[in-house]
Amino acid sequence: MLGAGLDTSREMTQEVKMKTILITGASSGIGLETARTLIRQGYSVIGVARSEANCDRAKEMILSDNPNAKIIFFMADLMQQREVVRVAEEITLYLNEKCSGELYALINNAGCVRSWYMTTDEGYEQQFALNHLAGFLLTHKLLPALIKAQGRVIMTGSESHKGIKVRWDNIMLSRRYNPLTAYKQSKLCNILFAKGLNDRYAAAGIRAYVVDPGLVNTDIGSKETGALVNFIWSVRKRYGVPPSVPAKTYEFLCEQKFPPDGLYYYFCKEKNYSKQVTSQNADRLFELSERLCDIRYEKV
Ligand SMILES: NC(=O)c1ccc[n+]([C@@H]2O[C@H](COP(=O)([O-])OP(=O)(O)OC[C@H]3O[C@@H](n4cnc5c(N)ncnc54)[C@H](OP(=O)(O)O)[C@@H]3O)[C@@H](O)[C@H]2O)c1
Repeated sequence: MLGAGLDTSREMTQEVKMKTILITGASSGIGLETARTLIRQGYSVIGVARSEANCDRAKEMILSDNPNAKIIFFMADLMQQREVVRVAEEITLYLNEKCSGELYALINNAGCVRSWYMTTDEGYEQQFALNHLAGFLLTHKLLPALIKAQGRVIMTGSESHKGIKVRWDNIMLSRRYNPLTAYKQSKLCNILFAKGLNDRYAAAGIRAYVVDPGLVNTDIGSKETGALVNFIWSVRKRYGVPPSVPAKTYEFLCEQKFPPDGLYYYFCKEKNYSKQVTSQNADRLFELSERLCDIRYEKV
């Protein structure tokens, strides 16, 4: 198990039962800062990211902050579905062994932007695959642990989800590809997924949310993008807030004793979202994504 080698937490035992939170994309940017914030609040954190070097660096930063931090990283390229399935199995074993099989919160945060049409091994457009499908599949695999903990699922969304509709006839946008439209659509899918999860699993005690982090000064626009996107992002990100700012909204959603009723949160407050976010569109996205991931979310 790749993750086992990275477990430097000091005896993640059950003596004091801590709530466990899983954050994807915890090796940099918003995910890393959210991990640090939640650890300071006393949570045990499982990070998932794709690069051993970046996971090691993140782990060192977290431990230098707080040498007693309960942190473990698992590595997976979440763009590839077989990797999502593999890491979900490893994490489930870990949760069963160390956390009574309970996952208090899952933060589906890993994300990317692209400059041109690129596909995964499965042939799916990469922004759709990572920003939406990875979280859709990972959440399904971890549902038993989330249900056991009456847990929360939190997606990292974006204001950019507004002003577009899902292209149901060509969801990978393969014809006349526009990378910005693909990004915006993937962020609209985050809210539809959260809405659909609430429709299906509120009765089982699960609540789903979306955090809108605002414009944040991270390197997302400089990873596997072309020179133009790289340049635009390097200028734009300077106007962004530090990742510690949106981290407070994840903390707020995790810290509320009774799960708040809202769906879309910005600066710890509910914010309005696109009128495209309806149960009908959520059902349609579930149906399509289930087919693409070869899974079935059962209604309870
Ligand atoms: N920055 C903003 O202004 C902004 C605004 C709205 C929404 N968001 C959303 O915020 C989320 C986090 O973005 P960020 O700005 O914090 O960017 P970031 O610093 O690039 O963080 C992205 C995280 O995802 C990981 N990742 C990337 N590709 C992956 C893959 N294939 N498999 C597994 N992990 C992968 C990255 O790993 P590495 O460390 O190895 O790169 C990193 O940990 C994204 O969903 C993004 O859409 C950001």
